[in-house]
Amino acid sequence: MLSICLLMIFVQSGKMADSPNCDLKSLSPLQLFERVTEQGEKVRALKAGKAPKDEIDAAVRMLLSLKLSYKTTTGQDYQAGLPPKDLVLINNGTTQEEDEDLVNPWNVQTSNAKGVDYDKLIVRFGSSKIDTDLINRIERAIGQKPHHFLRRGIFFSHRDMDQVLDAYENKKPFYLYTGRGPSSQAMHVGHLIPFMFTKWLQEVFDVPLVIQLTDDEKYLWKDMTVEKAYEYARENAKDIIACGFDVNKTFIFSDLDYLGTSAGFYKNIVKVQKHVTFNQVKGIFGFTDSDCIGKISFPAIQAAPSFSSSFPQIFNGKENIQCLIPCAIDQDPYFRMTRDVAPRIGQPKPALLHSVFFPALQGAQTKMSASDPNSSIFLTDTPKQIKTKINKHAFSGGRDTIEEHRKYGGNCDVDVSFMYLTFFLEDDDRLEQLKQAYTSGELLTGELKKVLIETMQPLVAAHQERRKQVTDEIVKQFMTPRKLAFEF
Ligand code: TRP
Repeated sequence: MLSICLLMIFVQSGKMADSPNCDLKSLSPLQLFERVTEQGEKVRALKAGKAPKDEIDAAVRMLLSLKLSYKTTTGQDYQAGLPPKDLVLINNGTTQEEDEDLVNPWNVQTSNAKGVDYDKLIVRFGSSKIDTDLINRIERAIGQKPHHFLRRGIFFSHRDMDQVLDAYENKKPFYLYTGRGPSSQAMHVGHLIPFMFTKWLQEVFDVPLVIQLTDDEKYLWKDMTVEKAYEYARENAKDIIACGFDVNKTFIFSDLDYLGTSAGFYKNIVKVQKHVTFNQVKGIFGFTDSDCIGKISFPAIQAAPSFSSSFPQIFNGKENIQCLIPCAIDQDPYFRMTRDVAPRIGQPKPALLHSVFFPALQGAQTKMSASDPNSSIFLTDTPKQIKTKINKHAFSGGRDTIEEHRKYGGNCDVDVSFMYLTFFLEDDDRLEQLKQAYTSGELLTGELKKVLIETMQPLVAAHQERRKQVTDEIVKQFMTPRKLAFEF
């Protein structure tokens, strides 16, 4: 019944039957929104075409009943052009409430020095908090201490992670998918966060990993030639490989390259494209009528790697392998859309692990920008540059004078050096000591910065050393479509 009902709506939406005889409660908020919108258009068309009164009345009754279902399901009144709130990506100013943080794939802004309010974001996006219970469950499943990104709330939110653990405990396979938009050659330390975490996940769960380089996305969004975007993809691949991924378990691909060669991948793209309307992507991503059609259809390309059939060479043509996506929370809109579509194209919904944003040196109000060299520490920085940047630009939560600092102590919640240490200093005890000492005023800002400098210099130098070892030949191996070291 449900599938017939969905078929009516999505395959034949233009000639839908009048009676709401399928169970409206089983529709997702977005599907209901679509139906109300379509029915509204139908009523207008009937009126404009001077249709018989009883036909118009029937269509109006249907419209009212749909609006009622919409309200019961979402708790919101239907408003034309405004999709249900948990699916709305607040990006065009029209739906953003005064005190809300702005978070979308292209922009992150908050007025709070502590950064984005992540608890509120969980509620707004409708995801789940990674709580102690889940962290303990992960620990039991893998038989070792969870990564400090989990223990410290850096990966703070998820969708269906319990399902992934169920599968893992029942010896069912899953795979990891993450990605990067290669917008420039210059990657900064914040870009490493999802990859460091993904590497850890790959090791502890021993699963295949696919990494999408969206050079097409960057070509569409930035002022950049296709050739340049492709070149950045290969350069960025070197930094990603330098994180230590296992070539036998990892497939890295550039969209510009792989899409044209993989029938499996392209089939999934068109399936997603068929099941998402312009209205929906407008609501989710804020596209307008004057955005190029490349942008409008791009979300389907980021969705496709969530389905194992996009990689027949890895999964032996198997369709239903569960996918887990570690990513920064700003990528969630793509995957909310993917999860909405998945059951309608007979695929499992991808699970997700979301990270917080990595703060700019200037403070946690914005995400960093690769175009401002002082906003972050770059993977190409020298030890001296790292030292100068931290000393000069890292926003301090310390007091104005030494006397005041000793008396009142510093504020770790807004201090960027301390924030960076929570990302990169692995020693829990040391971090706690620093926090105590800084908060009590015993430790001065300059001293805290020194600890950060001494943490970052070797970390970046080691990365540079590993990157040097990554030859074009190695990049080619990672980027060649092939079977990985797993049987399916
Ligand atoms: N759109 C992402 C970016 O601009 C790149 C990306 C593609 C991605 N697929 C992904 C990120 C999956 C995380 C997970 O960086």
